[in-house]
Amino acid sequence: MYHFISELKRTHHCGQLSKNDVGKTVVLMGWVNTRRDHGGLIFVDLRDREGVTQVVFSPEANPDVHSQSGELRSEYCIGIRGVVKLRPEGMANPKLLTGEIEVDADALQIFNRSKTPPFPLEDEIDVNEETRLTYRYLDLRRKPLKNNLVLRSKVSQIVRDYLVQNGFLEIETPFLTKSTPEGARDYLVPSRIHQGHFYALPQSPQLFKQLLMVAGFEKYYQIVRCFRDEDLRADRQPEFTQIDIELSFVDREDVLSVMEGLIASVWKGALGVDLQIPFKKLSYDDCIERFGLDAPDLRFGLELKTVTPLFLNSGFKVFGEIARSGGLIKALVVPGKADFSRKEIDELTSFAGIYGAKGLAYIKILDTEWQSPITKFLSEDEKKSLQETLSLKKGDIVFFGAGPAKVVNDSLGNLREKIATDLKLVDDNKYEFAWVVDFPMFDWEAEEKRPVAVHHPFTSPKSSDLAFLDSDPLKAKANAYDLVLNGNEIGGGSIRIHDPATQSKVFDILKISREEAKAKFGFLLTALQFGAPPHGGIAFGLDRLIMLLSHSTSIRDVIAFPKTQKATDPMTEAPSPVDAKQMLELGLQISIPKVVHKP
Ligand code: AMO
Ligand code: AMP
Repeated sequence: MYHFISELKRTHHCGQLSKNDVGKTVVLMGWVNTRRDHGGLIFVDLRDREGVTQVVFSPEANPDVHSQSGELRSEYCIGIRGVVKLRPEGMANPKLLTGEIEVDADALQIFNRSKTPPFPLEDEIDVNEETRLTYRYLDLRRKPLKNNLVLRSKVSQIVRDYLVQNGFLEIETPFLTKSTPEGARDYLVPSRIHQGHFYALPQSPQLFKQLLMVAGFEKYYQIVRCFRDEDLRADRQPEFTQIDIELSFVDREDVLSVMEGLIASVWKGALGVDLQIPFKKLSYDDCIERFGLDAPDLRFGLELKTVTPLFLNSGFKVFGEIARSGGLIKALVVPGKADFSRKEIDELTSFAGIYGAKGLAYIKILDTEWQSPITKFLSEDEKKSLQETLSLKKGDIVFFGAGPAKVVNDSLGNLREKIATDLKLVDDNKYEFAWVVDFPMFDWEAEEKRPVAVHHPFTSPKSSDLAFLDSDPLKAKANAYDLVLNGNEIGGGSIRIHDPATQSKVFDILKISREEAKAKFGFLLTALQFGAPPHGGIAFGLDRLIMLLSHSTSIRDVIAFPKTQKATDPMTEAPSPVDAKQMLELGLQISIPKVVHKP
């Protein structure tokens, strides 16, 4: 009797053998992918990380092994020894790398049997996500997920290689730390030694990377986990990974060009695609005007047009009033789609409603007339101006959004992307990158009646806009930039404030009191007083990058052990209650009635 691990060493992996290996005696190890019994011959597709090889058990090769192979079932973990043979005429499988050969087994060891998996491990089968996550280690045996993780590892390596070659140092920053404001809630960790005190898990290493610049490291990077307690979506996880970068003595153009090199080497290395750099730049204002959104999908046209002035004296009361009271009216022309049905238009109207739109007026440009619920209110002059401004042609349909600017931009911007997807105007193999620049420094937070930072409070204003900090802060543009790809924000960063006086001024504008600033970020303000260099940086969402590179629709498909949309892990059943002793040690007590969460 042989003992595989100690006596028979694995000679090849299951994606390796070809007709050049015919005649060799080989040892393979892996999992039974499928098993077929063909009149006494047992065929097993043996799978490991690298591929699949067909193994044949015949009575001729070894009768004992042949009879033992009868008990093999899917997902048994086994080792085999055998001789590589060409497959008989006509039996080659061109779909497999190893499709021309098979291995005639004369030795078999079952390392471990497997229960029948709770779902078939075929690549394309749709399985309820809860079950997939409960048995994640089985889900990860399927090719699409495995390939995503292989890609992820490769991309991390390309990123490291590029950044190291460009003089960056990888430096770790703490997880048990203080809150870093990035706009989400913190995950808190109670301290046992200092009862009643909490660490916050970092929403990003923002403050530490700035401190590393003050320390003089000049070029820093880290592939780092970040934690944000926010509402989850298809492209958001409570813990996710950033490629976090900071540089000293740079301006915006320096940062952008190093980053373009990074993204180009990722696309080249991972997909073999040559990207055109530099990427185009769009100002934030231009983006909102033309696409309604600050992360627009540029793979298709369908640009929005502002038509507010055309309705100032409109007979259509709703639009007239909105135009006169400082609201916004925008149009979205969809060429050739005057044949949208009533039902389709109703669906688009409810879609716009998700973003707060109160309605979705439309006009169909038909052969003989304009068909629309609003034309009866429109004067000939209004129609003529619309026709000219929007270059309307027979067969077109035009949609209108009217209301507060944010609602109109959000609803029409998202509608534009929905219509393009529905009409299949989006080329999946196209990569349209753009830098969105010149973001506003501040947004008005109506509920709290104060400005909030659009990026974060450490972002510097554009030098040309410094004076606005005193006169009209809401007018100031930030020296911030986002990288947008196919409608997704894949990274964002800024040139930072490096002088304590401007930083204090920004805190004042944000109505963060001196005491609060000192308590929250005092260490940064102090550090800025010790010769802080001019600096700036960026962070890319690694998970989002991998989603886009692998054409995955869910961020969970590019993370080995992700959380559900409800931030739970059905496999480990986290989060879970802790025992009374631990609570006592931490000096904690649950004061709300116990809620039983089903993960
Ligand atoms: P920001 O908050 O824009 O910037 O984050 C940078 C990038 O991280 C990704 N990202 C996420 N990915 C998955 N799940 C999430 N919940 C999530 N949140 C963000 C996005 C985003 O573009 N400290 C600054 C960077 C800087 O200024 O240098 C920061 O964190 O792709
Ligand atoms: P009504 O007069 O309310 O029936 O509206 C006539 C048309 O205008 C309908 O097609 C509505 O969907 C549309 N409409 C109403 N309010 C708005 C709005 N704020 N923005 C865009 N379209 C609107």
